[in-house]
Amino acid sequence: MSESTAAGRTLRAGIIGTGGIASGAHIPGYQATAGVELYAVCDVIRERATATAEKFAIPHVFTDYEQMLKLPELDVVSVCTPPFAHKDATIAALQAGKHVLCEKPMALNGLEAQAMVDAWHGARATYGNKFSIGFQSRYGRNAQQLKRFIAAGELGEIYYGRAAALRRRGVPGWGVFTSKAKNGGGPLIDIGVHALDLALWLMGHPQPASVYGVTYRKFGNRPNVFNPWGTWDPQTYDVEDAAFAMIRFGNGAVLQLECSWVLNIERSMSQTILCGTEGGAQLDPFKIFQEKHGTILDVIPPERATEGQGRAGEPSYALEIQGFIKAIREDSDPLVLPEQALMVSRIVDAIYASGESGEAVKL
Ligand SMILES: NC(=O)c1ccc[n+]([C@@H]2O[C@H](COP(=O)([O-])OP(=O)(O)OC[C@H]3O[C@@H](n4cnc5c(N)ncnc54)[C@H](O)[C@@H]3O)[C@@H](O)[C@H]2O)c1
Repeated sequence: MSESTAAGRTLRAGIIGTGGIASGAHIPGYQATAGVELYAVCDVIRERATATAEKFAIPHVFTDYEQMLKLPELDVVSVCTPPFAHKDATIAALQAGKHVLCEKPMALNGLEAQAMVDAWHGARATYGNKFSIGFQSRYGRNAQQLKRFIAAGELGEIYYGRAAALRRRGVPGWGVFTSKAKNGGGPLIDIGVHALDLALWLMGHPQPASVYGVTYRKFGNRPNVFNPWGTWDPQTYDVEDAAFAMIRFGNGAVLQLECSWVLNIERSMSQTILCGTEGGAQLDPFKIFQEKHGTILDVIPPERATEGQGRAGEPSYALEIQGFIKAIREDSDPLVLPEQALMVSRIVDAIYASGESGEAVKL
Protein backbone atom coordinates (compact mmCIF):
# COMPACT_ATOMS: atom_id res chain seq x y z
CA MET A 1 0.00 0.00 0.00
CA SER A 2 1.54 3.25 -1.05
CA GLU A 3 -0.13 6.55 -0.21
CA SER A 4 1.70 8.48 -2.86
CA THR A 5 0.26 6.37 -5.64
CA ALA A 6 -3.20 5.60 -4.21
CA ALA A 7 -4.69 8.72 -5.81
CA GLY A 8 -4.84 7.49 -9.39
CA ARG A 9 -4.09 3.80 -9.72
CA THR A 10 -6.35 0.77 -9.38
CA LEU A 11 -6.75 -0.21 -5.73
CA ARG A 12 -6.80 -3.90 -4.85
CA ALA A 13 -9.33 -5.07 -2.29
CA GLY A 14 -9.41 -8.17 -0.12
CA ILE A 15 -12.24 -9.60 1.99
CA ILE A 16 -11.85 -11.41 5.31
CA GLY A 17 -14.94 -13.53 5.98
CA THR A 18 -17.04 -14.44 2.95
CA GLY A 19 -20.50 -14.79 4.49
CA GLY A 20 -23.69 -12.83 3.98
CA ILE A 21 -22.47 -9.25 4.32
CA ALA A 22 -19.39 -9.88 2.16
CA SER A 23 -21.39 -11.34 -0.73
CA GLY A 24 -24.42 -9.10 -0.29
CA ALA A 25 -22.77 -5.75 0.36
CA HIS A 26 -18.98 -5.40 0.33
CA ILE A 27 -18.19 -7.36 -2.84
CA PRO A 28 -21.00 -5.71 -4.87
CA GLY A 29 -19.92 -2.40 -3.32
CA TYR A 30 -16.33 -2.76 -4.55
CA GLN A 31 -17.63 -3.97 -7.91
CA ALA A 32 -19.71 -0.80 -8.18
CA THR A 33 -16.69 1.39 -7.39
CA ALA A 34 -14.53 2.66 -10.24
CA GLY A 35 -10.81 1.95 -9.99
CA VAL A 36 -11.07 -0.96 -7.56
CA GLU A 37 -10.22 -4.58 -8.30
CA LEU A 38 -11.38 -7.40 -6.05
CA TYR A 39 -8.13 -9.25 -5.55
CA ALA A 40 -8.37 -11.76 -2.69
CA VAL A 41 -10.84 -13.44 -0.36
CA CYS A 42 -10.29 -15.30 2.87
CA ASP A 43 -12.56 -17.50 4.93
CA VAL A 44 -11.73 -20.13 7.52
CA ILE A 45 -14.20 -22.33 5.63
CA ARG A 46 -12.28 -23.03 2.42
CA GLU A 47 -15.32 -24.04 0.36
CA ARG A 48 -17.00 -20.77 1.22
CA ALA A 49 -13.96 -18.73 0.19
CA THR A 50 -13.56 -20.72 -3.02
CA ALA A 51 -17.24 -20.48 -3.94
CA THR A 52 -17.16 -16.71 -3.39
CA ALA A 53 -13.98 -16.33 -5.44
CA GLU A 54 -15.52 -18.32 -8.30
CA LYS A 55 -18.83 -16.51 -8.17
CA PHE A 56 -17.24 -13.05 -8.30
CA ALA A 57 -14.09 -13.96 -10.34
CA ILE A 58 -11.66 -13.04 -7.56
CA PRO A 59 -8.18 -14.45 -8.27
CA HIS A 60 -6.67 -15.20 -4.84
CA VAL A 61 -8.15 -17.45 -2.14
CA PHE A 62 -6.96 -17.89 1.46
CA THR A 63 -8.10 -19.60 4.65
CA ASP A 64 -5.65 -17.64 6.85
CA TYR A 65 -5.88 -13.86 6.72
CA GLU A 66 -2.28 -13.50 7.92
CA GLN A 67 -1.23 -15.10 4.62
CA MET A 68 -3.54 -12.88 2.61
CA LEU A 69 -2.18 -9.78 4.32
CA LYS A 70 1.31 -10.66 3.12
CA LEU A 71 0.27 -9.70 -0.42
CA PRO A 72 2.11 -6.39 -0.88
CA GLU A 73 -0.20 -5.39 -3.73
CA LEU A 74 -3.31 -5.54 -1.52
CA ASP A 75 -4.40 -2.00 -0.59
CA VAL A 76 -7.72 -2.24 1.20
CA VAL A 77 -9.35 -4.92 3.34
CA SER A 78 -12.94 -5.40 4.43
CA VAL A 79 -13.29 -7.31 7.69
CA CYS A 80 -16.59 -9.19 7.31
CA THR A 81 -16.19 -11.87 9.97
CA PRO A 82 -18.48 -12.18 12.98
CA PRO A 83 -17.59 -9.73 15.76
CA PHE A 84 -15.35 -12.13 17.74
CA ALA A 85 -12.75 -11.92 14.95
CA HIS A 86 -13.00 -8.17 14.21
CA LYS A 87 -10.28 -7.02 16.59
CA ASP A 88 -7.51 -9.40 15.61
CA ALA A 89 -8.23 -9.31 11.87
CA THR A 90 -8.44 -5.51 11.86
CA ILE A 91 -5.27 -5.02 13.87
CA ALA A 92 -3.38 -7.50 11.67
CA ALA A 93 -4.55 -5.72 8.52
CA LEU A 94 -3.74 -2.26 9.87
CA GLN A 95 -0.30 -3.38 10.97
CA ALA A 96 0.27 -4.88 7.51
CA GLY A 97 -0.30 -1.36 6.16
CA LYS A 98 -3.75 -1.95 4.66
CA HIS A 99 -6.70 0.44 4.73
CA VAL A 100 -9.44 -1.30 6.74
CA LEU A 101 -13.21 -1.12 6.59
CA CYS A 102 -14.44 -3.30 9.45
CA GLU A 103 -18.06 -4.35 9.74
CA LYS A 104 -20.21 -3.34 12.66
CA PRO A 105 -20.23 -3.86 15.56
CA MET A 106 -16.68 -2.57 15.76
CA ALA A 107 -15.75 -5.28 18.27
CA LEU A 108 -17.12 -7.44 21.08
CA ASN A 109 -16.77 -4.54 23.53
CA GLY A 110 -15.21 -1.16 24.17
CA LEU A 111 -11.89 -2.56 25.36
CA GLU A 112 -11.38 -4.38 22.08
CA ALA A 113 -12.49 -1.31 20.14
CA GLN A 114 -9.98 0.80 22.06
CA ALA A 115 -7.21 -1.68 21.17
CA MET A 116 -8.17 -1.31 17.50
CA VAL A 117 -8.04 2.48 17.66
CA ASP A 118 -4.66 2.32 19.42
CA ALA A 119 -3.31 -0.07 16.77
CA TRP A 120 -4.59 2.23 14.04
CA HIS A 121 -2.83 5.24 15.56
CA GLY A 122 0.41 3.24 15.58
CA ALA A 123 0.01 1.94 12.01
CA ARG A 124 -1.14 5.28 10.61
CA ALA A 125 2.10 6.92 11.69
CA THR A 126 3.96 4.51 9.39
CA TYR A 127 1.51 3.80 6.59
CA GLY A 128 -1.02 6.62 6.61
CA ASN A 129 -3.78 4.04 6.39
CA LYS A 130 -7.50 4.78 6.73
CA PHE A 131 -9.77 2.92 9.11
CA SER A 132 -13.55 2.98 9.26
CA ILE A 133 -16.51 0.95 10.54
CA GLY A 134 -19.54 -0.24 8.57
CA PHE A 135 -22.20 2.15 9.82
CA GLN A 136 -23.61 2.55 6.33
CA SER A 137 -26.90 4.07 7.51
CA ARG A 138 -25.17 7.44 7.58
CA TYR A 139 -25.06 7.25 3.78
CA GLY A 140 -28.85 6.80 3.51
CA ARG A 141 -30.56 9.45 1.43
CA ASN A 142 -32.79 10.68 4.26
CA ALA A 143 -29.93 10.66 6.75
CA GLN A 144 -27.76 12.79 4.48
CA GLN A 145 -30.66 15.16 3.89
CA LEU A 146 -31.46 15.50 7.58
CA LYS A 147 -27.80 16.13 8.35
CA ARG A 148 -27.91 19.08 5.93
CA PHE A 149 -31.07 20.47 7.61
CA ILE A 150 -29.43 20.15 11.03
CA ALA A 151 -26.21 21.78 9.81
CA ALA A 152 -28.31 24.70 8.54
CA GLY A 153 -29.82 25.15 12.03
CA GLU A 154 -33.36 24.06 11.09
CA LEU A 155 -33.72 22.05 14.32
CA GLY A 156 -31.92 24.49 16.60
CA GLU A 157 -30.52 22.91 19.77
CA ILE A 158 -31.39 19.19 19.69
CA TYR A 159 -32.23 18.03 23.22
CA TYR A 160 -34.29 14.89 22.68
CA GLY A 161 -33.77 11.95 20.35
CA ARG A 162 -35.42 8.61 19.88
CA ALA A 163 -33.73 5.84 17.91
CA ALA A 164 -35.45 2.55 17.25
CA ALA A 165 -34.46 -0.67 15.51
CA LEU A 166 -37.32 -3.00 16.32
CA ARG A 167 -38.20 -6.31 14.75
CA ARG A 168 -41.36 -8.19 15.53
CA ARG A 169 -39.74 -11.50 14.57
CA GLY A 170 -36.23 -11.30 13.12
CA VAL A 171 -33.65 -13.29 15.07
CA PRO A 172 -30.73 -14.00 12.69
CA GLY A 173 -30.81 -17.77 12.41
CA TRP A 174 -27.36 -18.18 10.84
CA GLY A 175 -23.80 -17.58 11.97
CA VAL A 176 -23.06 -16.78 15.62
CA PHE A 177 -25.55 -13.98 16.32
CA THR A 178 -27.09 -15.68 19.37
CA SER A 179 -23.77 -16.27 21.16
CA LYS A 180 -22.60 -13.66 23.67
CA ALA A 181 -18.99 -14.85 23.42
CA LYS A 182 -18.89 -14.63 19.62
CA ASN A 183 -21.30 -11.79 18.83
CA GLY A 184 -20.84 -9.65 21.94
CA GLY A 185 -24.58 -9.53 22.56
CA GLY A 186 -27.92 -9.62 20.77
CA PRO A 187 -30.02 -6.95 19.00
CA LEU A 188 -28.37 -4.09 20.89
CA ILE A 189 -24.91 -4.78 19.50
CA ASP A 190 -26.29 -6.09 16.20
CA ILE A 191 -28.88 -3.56 15.01
CA GLY A 192 -29.10 -1.15 17.95
CA VAL A 193 -25.58 0.05 17.10
CA HIS A 194 -26.81 1.28 13.71
CA ALA A 195 -29.64 3.26 15.31
CA LEU A 196 -27.30 4.59 18.00
CA ASP A 197 -24.54 5.55 15.59
CA LEU A 198 -26.97 7.32 13.27
CA ALA A 199 -28.54 9.33 16.09
CA LEU A 200 -25.16 10.27 17.59
CA TRP A 201 -23.92 11.44 14.19
CA LEU A 202 -27.06 13.49 13.54
CA MET A 203 -26.87 15.00 17.04
CA GLY A 204 -23.25 16.03 16.38
CA HIS A 205 -21.64 13.46 18.70
CA PRO A 206 -22.35 15.05 22.07
CA GLN A 207 -20.26 13.59 24.89
CA PRO A 208 -22.25 10.90 26.76
CA ALA A 209 -22.46 11.38 30.52
CA SER A 210 -24.55 8.46 31.79
CA VAL A 211 -26.62 5.55 30.57
CA TYR A 212 -29.60 3.71 32.01
CA GLY A 213 -30.36 0.47 30.22
CA VAL A 214 -32.57 -2.58 30.48
CA THR A 215 -32.16 -5.82 28.56
CA TYR A 216 -34.57 -8.73 28.24
CA ARG A 217 -34.35 -12.35 27.16
CA LYS A 218 -37.99 -13.34 26.93
CA PHE A 219 -37.94 -15.43 23.75
CA GLY A 220 -34.41 -16.72 23.15
CA ASN A 221 -34.64 -19.72 25.45
CA ARG A 222 -38.12 -20.75 24.31
CA PRO A 223 -38.55 -23.48 21.71
CA ASN A 224 -40.59 -22.96 18.55
CA VAL A 225 -40.76 -19.17 18.51
CA PHE A 226 -42.13 -18.14 15.11
CA ASN A 227 -39.15 -16.64 13.26
CA PRO A 228 -39.00 -16.32 9.46
CA TRP A 229 -35.25 -15.47 9.74
CA GLY A 230 -34.26 -19.03 10.62
CA THR A 231 -33.88 -21.13 13.72
CA TRP A 232 -31.58 -21.13 16.74
CA ASP A 233 -30.80 -23.42 19.62
CA PRO A 234 -32.80 -22.23 22.66
CA GLN A 235 -30.38 -24.13 24.94
CA THR A 236 -27.36 -22.06 23.86
CA TYR A 237 -29.05 -18.69 23.16
CA ASP A 238 -27.37 -16.44 25.74
CA VAL A 239 -27.87 -12.88 24.40
CA GLU A 240 -30.74 -10.43 24.99
CA ASP A 241 -33.68 -10.33 22.60
CA ALA A 242 -34.58 -6.72 23.40
CA ALA A 243 -32.79 -3.72 24.93
CA PHE A 244 -34.01 -0.26 25.92
CA ALA A 245 -31.87 2.61 27.13
CA MET A 246 -31.76 6.28 27.98
CA ILE A 247 -28.46 7.99 27.22
CA ARG A 248 -27.83 11.34 28.84
CA PHE A 249 -25.26 13.69 27.36
CA GLY A 250 -23.04 16.34 28.91
CA ASN A 251 -24.85 19.05 26.93
CA GLY A 252 -28.15 18.11 28.62
CA ALA A 253 -29.63 16.19 25.67
CA VAL A 254 -31.05 12.69 26.02
CA LEU A 255 -31.44 9.84 23.54
CA GLN A 256 -33.90 7.02 24.00
CA LEU A 257 -32.78 3.81 22.28
CA GLU A 258 -35.04 0.83 21.60
CA CYS A 259 -33.96 -2.35 19.85
CA SER A 260 -35.22 -5.87 19.47
CA TRP A 261 -35.00 -8.96 17.30
CA VAL A 262 -38.29 -10.22 18.63
CA LEU A 263 -40.93 -8.05 20.28
CA ASN A 264 -44.71 -8.17 20.26
CA ILE A 265 -45.34 -5.01 18.24
CA GLU A 266 -47.51 -4.49 15.17
CA ARG A 267 -44.65 -4.35 12.68
CA SER A 268 -40.87 -4.14 12.51
CA MET A 269 -39.60 -0.59 12.25
CA SER A 270 -36.45 1.54 12.16
CA GLN A 271 -36.89 5.15 13.09
CA THR A 272 -34.94 8.18 14.23
CA ILE A 273 -36.76 11.14 15.75
CA LEU A 274 -34.94 14.27 16.85
CA CYS A 275 -36.46 17.26 18.63
CA GLY A 276 -34.83 20.65 18.93
CA THR A 277 -35.67 24.21 19.90
CA GLU A 278 -36.40 25.27 16.30
CA GLY A 279 -37.80 22.09 14.83
CA GLY A 280 -38.14 18.34 15.01
CA ALA A 281 -37.40 15.66 12.46
CA GLN A 282 -38.38 12.16 11.58
CA LEU A 283 -36.12 10.17 9.29
CA ASP A 284 -38.35 7.66 7.58
CA PRO A 285 -40.37 8.99 5.89
CA PHE A 286 -38.45 12.25 5.99
CA LYS A 287 -40.38 15.02 7.76
CA ILE A 288 -39.44 18.23 9.53
CA PHE A 289 -41.78 19.66 12.17
CA GLN A 290 -41.62 23.39 12.75
CA GLU A 291 -43.61 26.43 13.78
CA LYS A 292 -43.68 29.43 11.43
CA HIS A 293 -45.68 32.66 11.12
CA GLY A 294 -48.29 31.63 13.69
CA THR A 295 -48.85 28.03 12.70
CA ILE A 296 -47.24 24.62 13.06
CA LEU A 297 -45.78 23.38 9.80
CA ASP A 298 -44.59 20.04 8.46
CA VAL A 299 -41.86 20.08 5.81
CA ILE A 300 -42.28 17.04 3.60
CA PRO A 301 -40.51 16.47 0.27
CA PRO A 302 -42.95 15.71 -2.56
CA GLU A 303 -43.31 12.04 -3.49
CA ARG A 304 -41.38 12.48 -6.73
CA ALA A 305 -38.25 13.62 -4.87
CA THR A 306 -37.78 10.10 -3.53
CA GLU A 307 -39.02 8.04 -6.48
CA GLY A 308 -36.80 5.11 -7.34
CA GLN A 309 -34.45 5.70 -4.44
CA GLY A 310 -35.83 3.09 -2.06
CA ARG A 311 -36.31 3.60 1.64
CA ALA A 312 -33.80 5.34 3.83
CA GLY A 313 -30.57 3.40 4.08
CA GLU A 314 -31.19 0.76 1.45
CA PRO A 315 -28.85 1.93 -1.30
CA SER A 316 -26.12 2.89 1.13
CA TYR A 317 -23.71 -0.09 1.08
CA ALA A 318 -22.22 0.89 -2.29
CA LEU A 319 -22.06 4.52 -1.15
CA GLU A 320 -20.20 3.39 1.96
CA ILE A 321 -17.56 1.55 -0.06
CA GLN A 322 -17.30 4.44 -2.52
CA GLY A 323 -16.96 6.89 0.36
CA PHE A 324 -14.17 4.83 1.91
CA ILE A 325 -12.29 4.54 -1.38
CA LYS A 326 -12.68 8.29 -1.91
CA ALA A 327 -11.17 8.93 1.53
CA ILE A 328 -8.19 6.74 0.59
CA ARG A 329 -7.70 8.46 -2.75
CA GLU A 330 -8.10 11.97 -1.41
CA ASP A 331 -6.30 11.27 1.86
CA SER A 332 -9.31 12.65 3.74
CA ASP A 333 -11.30 11.41 6.74
CA PRO A 334 -13.87 8.68 6.07
CA LEU A 335 -17.45 9.54 7.07
CA VAL A 336 -17.33 7.13 10.04
CA LEU A 337 -14.35 7.88 12.26
CA PRO A 338 -12.92 5.04 14.41
CA GLU A 339 -13.23 7.11 17.58
CA GLN A 340 -16.96 7.60 16.91
CA ALA A 341 -17.46 3.84 16.56
CA LEU A 342 -15.43 3.34 19.75
CA MET A 343 -17.89 5.63 21.55
CA VAL A 344 -20.78 3.49 20.28
CA SER A 345 -19.03 0.41 21.74
CA ARG A 346 -18.52 2.15 25.07
CA ILE A 347 -22.19 3.16 25.26
CA VAL A 348 -23.24 -0.41 24.40
CA ASP A 349 -21.00 -1.70 27.21
CA ALA A 350 -22.64 0.77 29.58
CA ILE A 351 -26.15 -0.31 28.54
CA TYR A 352 -25.29 -3.96 29.20
CA ALA A 353 -23.67 -3.05 32.53
CA SER A 354 -26.68 -0.97 33.55
CA GLY A 355 -29.02 -3.78 32.50
CA GLU A 356 -27.15 -6.15 34.82
CA SER A 357 -26.80 -3.84 37.80
CA GLY A 358 -30.13 -2.04 37.54
CA GLU A 359 -28.25 1.22 38.12
CA ALA A 360 -27.34 4.09 35.81
CA VAL A 361 -23.74 3.87 34.57
CA LYS A 362 -21.57 6.98 34.29
CA LEU A 363 -19.36 7.37 31.24
N1 LIG B 1 -23.68 -3.31 8.11
C1 LIG B 1 -24.75 -4.09 8.20
O1 LIG B 1 -25.89 -3.64 8.08
C2 LIG B 1 -24.57 -5.55 8.44
C3 LIG B 1 -25.53 -6.48 8.02
C4 LIG B 1 -25.30 -7.83 8.26
C5 LIG B 1 -24.15 -8.23 8.94
N2 LIG B 1 -23.25 -7.30 9.37
C6 LIG B 1 -22.05 -7.68 10.14
O2 LIG B 1 -21.13 -8.33 9.28
C7 LIG B 1 -20.42 -9.32 10.04
C8 LIG B 1 -20.60 -10.66 9.37
O3 LIG B 1 -21.98 -10.99 9.32
P1 LIG B 1 -22.53 -12.09 8.28
O4 LIG B 1 -24.00 -12.03 8.36
O5 LIG B 1 -21.86 -11.90 6.98
O6 LIG B 1 -21.99 -13.40 9.00
P2 LIG B 1 -21.75 -14.83 8.33
O7 LIG B 1 -21.75 -15.80 9.45
O8 LIG B 1 -22.70 -15.00 7.17
O9 LIG B 1 -20.28 -14.72 7.68
C9 LIG B 1 -19.11 -14.60 8.44
C10 LIG B 1 -18.00 -15.37 7.75
O10 LIG B 1 -16.77 -15.11 8.42
C11 LIG B 1 -16.01 -16.32 8.44
N3 LIG B 1 -14.98 -16.24 9.46
C12 LIG B 1 -15.09 -16.37 10.81
N4 LIG B 1 -13.90 -16.19 11.40
C13 LIG B 1 -12.99 -15.93 10.41
C14 LIG B 1 -11.61 -15.69 10.40
N5 LIG B 1 -10.89 -15.63 11.53
N6 LIG B 1 -10.99 -15.49 9.21
C15 LIG B 1 -11.71 -15.54 8.06
N7 LIG B 1 -13.05 -15.79 8.01
C16 LIG B 1 -13.68 -15.98 9.17
C17 LIG B 1 -17.06 -17.39 8.67
O11 LIG B 1 -16.59 -18.66 8.30
C18 LIG B 1 -18.21 -16.89 7.80
O12 LIG B 1 -18.15 -17.42 6.48
C19 LIG B 1 -20.98 -9.26 11.47
O13 LIG B 1 -20.18 -8.43 12.25
C20 LIG B 1 -22.34 -8.64 11.27
O14 LIG B 1 -22.83 -7.95 12.40
C21 LIG B 1 -23.43 -5.98 9.10
